[in-house]
Amino acid sequence: MCGIVGYVGPRVVTPLLIEGLKRLEYRGYDSAGIAVMNGKGVETRKVAGKISRLETVVKDSPLTGTLGIAHTRWATHGAPNQVNAHPHLDEKHEIAVVHNGIIENASVLRRTLEEHGHVFTSDTDTEVLVHLIEAAFEDSLEDAVIDALRQVEGAYGIAVVSSRDPNKIVAARKGSPLLVGLGDGEYYVASDASAILAHTREVVYMHDGDLAVLDRHGYRIIDLNSTTLTRGVSKIDWDLAQIERGGFAHFMLKEIFEQPQTVSSTIAGRLLLDQATAKLSGTNLTEEELLAIDNVVITACGTSWHSGLIGEHMLEELARIPVEVEYASEFRYRNPIVTERTLCIVISQSGETADTLAAMREAQRRGARTLGIVNVVGSTIAREAAAGIYLHAGPEIGVASTKAFTSQVVALALLTLKLGRLREVSALRGTEIIEALQALPSQIQQILDRHHEIEALAEEFKRAQNFLYLGRGYNFPTALEGALKLKEISYIHAEGYPAAEMKHGPIALIDELMPVVFIAPHDSVFDKVASNVQEVKARNGRVIAITSREEPSLAGKIDYEFRIPETIDMLTPVLAAIPLQLLAYYIAVKRGSNVDQPRNLAKSVTVE
Ligand code: M6R
Repeated sequence: MCGIVGYVGPRVVTPLLIEGLKRLEYRGYDSAGIAVMNGKGVETRKVAGKISRLETVVKDSPLTGTLGIAHTRWATHGAPNQVNAHPHLDEKHEIAVVHNGIIENASVLRRTLEEHGHVFTSDTDTEVLVHLIEAAFEDSLEDAVIDALRQVEGAYGIAVVSSRDPNKIVAARKGSPLLVGLGDGEYYVASDASAILAHTREVVYMHDGDLAVLDRHGYRIIDLNSTTLTRGVSKIDWDLAQIERGGFAHFMLKEIFEQPQTVSSTIAGRLLLDQATAKLSGTNLTEEELLAIDNVVITACGTSWHSGLIGEHMLEELARIPVEVEYASEFRYRNPIVTERTLCIVISQSGETADTLAAMREAQRRGARTLGIVNVVGSTIAREAAAGIYLHAGPEIGVASTKAFTSQVVALALLTLKLGRLREVSALRGTEIIEALQALPSQIQQILDRHHEIEALAEEFKRAQNFLYLGRGYNFPTALEGALKLKEISYIHAEGYPAAEMKHGPIALIDELMPVVFIAPHDSVFDKVASNVQEVKARNGRVIAITSREEPSLAGKIDYEFRIPETIDMLTPVLAAIPLQLLAYYIAVKRGSNVDQPRNLAKSVTVE
């Protein structure tokens, strides 16, 4: 949720760290700070608010040095103010720590440390770490860090510097991502590759329990027993343009407009036309093993959970396998029925969401096979899942997930096609699915070409206080997703419901002020949805309908219509999501929200 970047090498460190923080700002943006070894000791600057404020402070009061660490924060313990911003220092200002994650036993440790005379200045759990390191320090920074980490429970990705061992950065990871970047005679540490991509593509992903010791001459990975470990070097295949806005006003808009290409990339090389099936080489399962699956559990959070609901519908309809979809945060604390014949599908854009990761580990512990549907290559879920399908959607920076959603649905359709063809789906049906998948990129483009229509709609509804999103079948989850997009970036209260369920309560909310968005493509449940439209109109609701053809039954019943191209039922969410994303985006912009950095949110939720 927070972001870390550190550098050691020949260059002046401050601009590199500020640049890295700017690229990480999407991960957390309530306060920021930087610590630099200035030749005499540790010098820090911290601010409440955005990186741009830190940049101004550093310009007014420069820091010089060639080794430093920096942090952008998403508050968990303590208010987002300057005092609680990282780095945190010991009393003598000899040690600085930046930390992502949560130290769960912080209050117990703090009490003990205070009894031993340590004076705390912030409300954060992180400050415990710096005092533990201080207490353990003899002559080696890594030894002191190891000693401290042995005492803490919880999750961390940390970077530490000290004037008592001034030429190195010590980083450590448990439950919060961290990688080492390898430059030419210079080394980086970062919580996310985007922070350092402008300088190197060679990275070493740290594993849980790893420490990295970096200086100007190289790096070492060790464990908590100081044993040296070997970790492979990976190459990042994104380029810089992909993590820049490229002329769009916001990353979210850029990512919405990228969807013809991203959906195409998810499909690329995965269709076997002659066999009318999909080729998913990462699934690592033989046909016999796939046929032996008794049931599927899908676990995820947020938008990824919505795509999971669509996957449930697809897999049950076509592959005839019983599927349950679970919020990862609930699954991990229940006593779920999972066996060796369960396939647990774990969906995550970032591959780092703490609850999803924990749910996957729980399923693995119970013997299930796990399959990750993940976007970020090399992320923890991608590495730990027994099998995987990468989305290949490129970096998603906007906090509101857009292109990951459509690629997730497409990846689930590919998996359904593969499993379905092994079971009951005919070659004819398989070919129909393939043709529909192939048509998606240009159909998405057709919708995007009409973005002005949605912008005009947004103008009409930008002052609404509430929104209802209704859909059935495959598009009940689309309704949930449309509502989530609107609420998270525009702060308008919005709810998604199965259209018929409206009669069991939400109908009481409908009056002439309530916009109701119906997702009503011409699918197998269209007639049912049309009746629900009538029910809303009869109560003077304002109906916005996403349809796919002229529908006589809706004549006079809808106030605004946006037509999407026709596709097969299971892929309608991919097309219907696009106008809903645009509607949320334009409403948010017109209300003056910071679309890419909505309040209280962070891109990747790496704490429970
Ligand atoms: O990276 P993940 O897919 O695991 O993230 C899950 C959710 O945190 C994420 O989808 C969140 O709900 C987004 N802000 C939705 O736009």
